[in-house]
Amino acid sequence: MPYTAPSRELLQHLEKARSVVVLTGAGVSAESGIPTFRGQGGLWREFRPEELATAAAFEQRPKLVWEWYMWRRQLVAQAEPNPGHFALAALETKYSEFTLVTQNVDGLHMRAGSRNVIELHGNIMRSRCHECGSPAGEAALDKDGQLPACECGGLIRPDVIWFGELLPPEALKRAWEASAHAEVFLSIGTSSAVQPAAGLADMAKRAGAYLVEVNPDTTEMSDRFDEVLRGPSGAILPTLCEELRLNFSRAPMFAV
Ligand code: OAD
Repeated sequence: MPYTAPSRELLQHLEKARSVVVLTGAGVSAESGIPTFRGQGGLWREFRPEELATAAAFEQRPKLVWEWYMWRRQLVAQAEPNPGHFALAALETKYSEFTLVTQNVDGLHMRAGSRNVIELHGNIMRSRCHECGSPAGEAALDKDGQLPACECGGLIRPDVIWFGELLPPEALKRAWEASAHAEVFLSIGTSSAVQPAAGLADMAKRAGAYLVEVNPDTTEMSDRFDEVLRGPSGAILPTLCEELRLNFSRAPMFAV
């Protein structure tokens, strides 16, 4: 797929910056074989969010919700980070302040070696109690369809944020603080349709950051960015690393 090369202006901003914030969404994992939510092949074309990704859905039909998450867990377990994930891990090594805020729940950034990662929407491989919130490791629906339960008597659920739920306050605060100090803000593989994540770009803009979008398609927010790089992140981000003469590796750079 053809893609836009980074401008000289962007490279200069990235050379000069001390503080960089990256926001990623499902598109960054698309080349790892994990479906996005919106657009062609997106999960929300096939499934209804209100039946699968809300607290009410879980309370009414916990087994159905768990089955959907077990299917998604399997996709994530089989997936590998792609060159876009590895390029972001390489970019991080250049900066003293680098924050990767992700809406993704697949853990692929950490598996690629990214270190300062804020998971705004949780992590699909972890579980927690729906009642008391206690962490529950990787507890899951068992092969006989038995629902996992907590010592408190509550049902255990995937440790992800559902529609209508508040984001973890500490994670959100860190994401806001980083965005309010960003000199360059990259929004990668997200439709920018879901708040509060989408609002981080506006916050960075107000702080004077140079705003860049990486996406093969136009989004609701494309016209707010200083620069738009059209194309897949798995091609654009490695090119960016090469232009910055960063040692870009396809293998994990740090022990996780
Ligand atoms: P979306 O599915 O809304 O958007 C994915 C974006 O990735 C789209 O804009 C695509 O054009 C773009 N894209 C597709 N392939 C790409 C590629 N190879 N490289 C770069 N970009 C590509 O996913 P999110 O924006 O992450 O929340 O969605 C935000 C939230 O909405 C999710 O975290 C999830 C969802 O409902 C919850 O479940 C709470």
